[in-house]
Amino acid sequence: MTSVKLLYVETFGCQMNVSDSEKIVALLGKVGYHPTQDSSRADLIILNTCSVRDKPEQKVYSTLGKFKRLKNSNRRLLLAVGGCVAQQEGERLLKKVPYLDIVFGTHNLHLLPEMVRQAEDGKRLAEVGFIDGEARLDLFPVEDSTGGVSRFVTIMQGCDNFCSYCIVPYVRGREISRRSAEIVQEIGDLAAKGVKEVTLLGQNVNSYGLKSAGEPDFAGLLRQVAEIPGIERIRFTTSHPKDISPPLIACFAELEKLCGHAHLPAQSGSDAVLAKMNRGYSRKDYLNKVAALKAIRPGIQITGDMIVGFPGESEADFRDTLSLMEEVGFADLFSFKYSVRPGTGAAGYPDDVDGGVKQERLNRLQELQLKMTLETNKGFVGTVQEVLVEGVNRRGDQLFGRTCGNRAVNFAGDPALTGSSTKVMITRAFRNSLFGEVCESGGGIDVS
Ligand code: 5AD
Ligand code: SF4
Repeated sequence: MTSVKLLYVETFGCQMNVSDSEKIVALLGKVGYHPTQDSSRADLIILNTCSVRDKPEQKVYSTLGKFKRLKNSNRRLLLAVGGCVAQQEGERLLKKVPYLDIVFGTHNLHLLPEMVRQAEDGKRLAEVGFIDGEARLDLFPVEDSTGGVSRFVTIMQGCDNFCSYCIVPYVRGREISRRSAEIVQEIGDLAAKGVKEVTLLGQNVNSYGLKSAGEPDFAGLLRQVAEIPGIERIRFTTSHPKDISPPLIACFAELEKLCGHAHLPAQSGSDAVLAKMNRGYSRKDYLNKVAALKAIRPGIQITGDMIVGFPGESEADFRDTLSLMEEVGFADLFSFKYSVRPGTGAAGYPDDVDGGVKQERLNRLQELQLKMTLETNKGFVGTVQEVLVEGVNRRGDQLFGRTCGNRAVNFAGDPALTGSSTKVMITRAFRNSLFGEVCESGGGIDVS
């Protein structure tokens, strides 16, 4: 009798990796691997890695070191590395990590079942070839549609922008958009399984379709998705400020299902730094787009990403970042210290902002953002928000959901409310979440 084989997947980095990990589990499920949360019981361990910054990359190597012990005590255990570090390192990773069995790149998920089969026979393998053009489109595996309330749906992958600090175009390859008919079909299938909210996912979703003859642009795709019965909310991430087009802005006025939230990574508030980053917009362009979004959808929540300590960033440049943050009034912000990524354009500049200065700027930025996030959240106290209930929270004592503007809300209620849009009166505000009570009386909803 063959026993069940267990698969443990550890995911680093972004939502794209989370989605890829779901696909990996689905693919390997077909060849007899069942997912486990317990790495010590696994027959196959896969690290789905991220190399966007130095820190997540180093984490991969320390995690690999941790699993070496398991490998020593279980000779049959297979260890695989996928994702961006795998793409970057390729065969080299097999040499660097002698106890590693499989390296698979960001375009090679579909090869995994066969690679695992060969590794079970004692082979060590690396596959990191990029696949471009039509052939690539046929490889976008359909999501494992297990239902739920809110799901991510990949609409494009890769990036052609070459921001000077960024490794993504090198490890994810050129931009490619999925066929709109397949996206609409997939979302229709999800809706039939009870999914109420979809987040359209890609490295740069708002350049969707621009390279594909006969396909709609991103605004056109949003309009198609908005027609799908059963889908109540549409979100997207992540978008590039330069590609926030007038037709896309118009969608925020015309499509009720499109949530009032835009994640718009600014990266810096200084024109000199933005130009050196090759971002393709100025501070003024960015602010104009935010103003247009706010005008057309009052109450829209703007979030973003910011980098401090980019080569050449002066104190005055950094202050421009702080003032941009205040002008926008970000509801939330992911912020990072610049780290050199090998092979990128910015790797040619001296990494000349002292480590201590980077840290000090990050602290100041995060302090300001914390104040603004708390202010944003406090502004919701006393309002009624429509919350799409995603389920019971991690502690198991309250329901959890999100407002249209993507603020997390916890409240007491019947778990049967899961999947429904419920009116919640916000009573308390915290740093990362809101707390409220179900509104029994019905009544109006405040703009979120
Ligand atoms: N150093 C620091 N932060 C970076 N990011 C991307 N590349 C780097 C880098 N080399 C940040 C950007 C991006 C987010 C995903 O990671 O802010 O939006
Ligand atoms: Fe990287 Fe810029 Fe592409 Fe975003 S848009 S993935 S930051 S190159």
